[in-house]
Amino acid sequence: SKKEAWSGRFSEPMAEFVLRYTASVGFDKRLAEADIAGSLAHARMLAKSKIISQKDLADIERGMKQISEEIKHGTFKWKLELEDVHLNIEARLTSLIGDAGKRLHTGRSRNDQVALDIRIYLRDQIKEIVSLIEHLQHSLLTIAEKNVDTLMPGFTHMQIAQPVSFGHHMLAYVEMFERDRQRFLDCYKRVNISPLGAAALAGTTYPIDREFTAAQLGMDSVTQNSLDSVSDRDFAVEFCSCSSLTMVHISRLSEELVYWMSSGFGFISLPDRFTTGSSIMPQKKNPDVPEAARGKVGRVVGHLMGLLMLMKGQPLAYNKDNQEDKEPLFDTIDTVKDTLRAFAEMVPGIQVRKEKMRAALQEGFATATDFADYLVRKGLPFRDAHEAVGCAVRLASEKNCQLHELSLEELKQFNPLIDEDVYASLTLEGSLKARDHVGGTAPHQVAYQVERWKKILAER
Ligand code: ARG
Repeated sequence: SKKEAWSGRFSEPMAEFVLRYTASVGFDKRLAEADIAGSLAHARMLAKSKIISQKDLADIERGMKQISEEIKHGTFKWKLELEDVHLNIEARLTSLIGDAGKRLHTGRSRNDQVALDIRIYLRDQIKEIVSLIEHLQHSLLTIAEKNVDTLMPGFTHMQIAQPVSFGHHMLAYVEMFERDRQRFLDCYKRVNISPLGAAALAGTTYPIDREFTAAQLGMDSVTQNSLDSVSDRDFAVEFCSCSSLTMVHISRLSEELVYWMSSGFGFISLPDRFTTGSSIMPQKKNPDVPEAARGKVGRVVGHLMGLLMLMKGQPLAYNKDNQEDKEPLFDTIDTVKDTLRAFAEMVPGIQVRKEKMRAALQEGFATATDFADYLVRKGLPFRDAHEAVGCAVRLASEKNCQLHELSLEELKQFNPLIDEDVYASLTLEGSLKARDHVGGTAPHQVAYQVERWKKILAER
């Protein structure tokens, strides 16, 4: 003899299939802690405003304490027929404390309740994600510091372009993740606002004190329009957007780790505990963690698209569609956290093969731009210098040698300004050292950035 919370108006029970189709308790039970916190704040407000008695409040607090314990110890009985986390907890409360449990929902609807729960849950998750990003930044900084003057080829179009410092390359990701971190912190401001009091959609007739409830929950303010409060999930979309960008950055790093570790490059290797073997090829050591991360970006970005589509056709105010916000949101949270954790732990273990990086650089005419800059310093316009060096590269290419291996005579035919001192600007170290300005790859600038970041991270 099951009875829905709204059975008064209905003449027959819900079809079994409809129950399964519309229930959310299977996944929204992870909001339980947030739901209880929200209910306690609401109950305290109701008592303070004399809408329920102090005795009711004491009963509610006692009942919720027990429910909280039951959930923690896994003894709480979740019931599908009670649809969602909210009705499950409320029903248990009433069975424990009687009438006071039935008074809890005064001046509230599941519509504002669920909007509140997601916000409470999400703000805590954002804090965790921000600290995981900081951990990853720290890991990247550690490896950058050890490689301030490690020469590696910088690429454009996947073609060797100019020498860069490997530390500089790692710091590029520290910058990207910093912007991701700031985006999450900014998103937090729009998450940590209380919608409670909007009730179903229009507000409530009771003399409620919304600011009081919000303050109890450590929320910064209250929403200013009841319809908006229960209907929008833009804060969740925004969170998924921040998550997508973070995952895209991780995906780019993953792609680099994978090809740096490939047989053709051999620039790095990863610690065994972050790689896997092959069931058939005994020689294999595969970069599974970066590849898995690169793959998981797809689901996170997919969830962002899913949420945007979820919202696009919904008229105000609450519609059941909104229940579909949870699975993509939760999976995004789990995926981003796991991925950040994996990378924060893996990055310090990257083994850098400096000799391989250097060898690759020696084959790509990586100092051709430095050669052109040399001619400019001698008075040649840059475009003419570019042309002259291009011819030199062609000759070296034909002779299958490097620029610095061409004789002075051979070089002079491209421009008479070329002299013995040209060889100094063709060295890899010289090329690196010459890019000496804010944001440049000169080791001395990279060391400065390492110090700057150390200070920033230490102050957090
Ligand atoms: N489980 C619902 C959700 O996640 C709670 C709100 C339900 N409200 C309603 N009127 N059906 O959105």
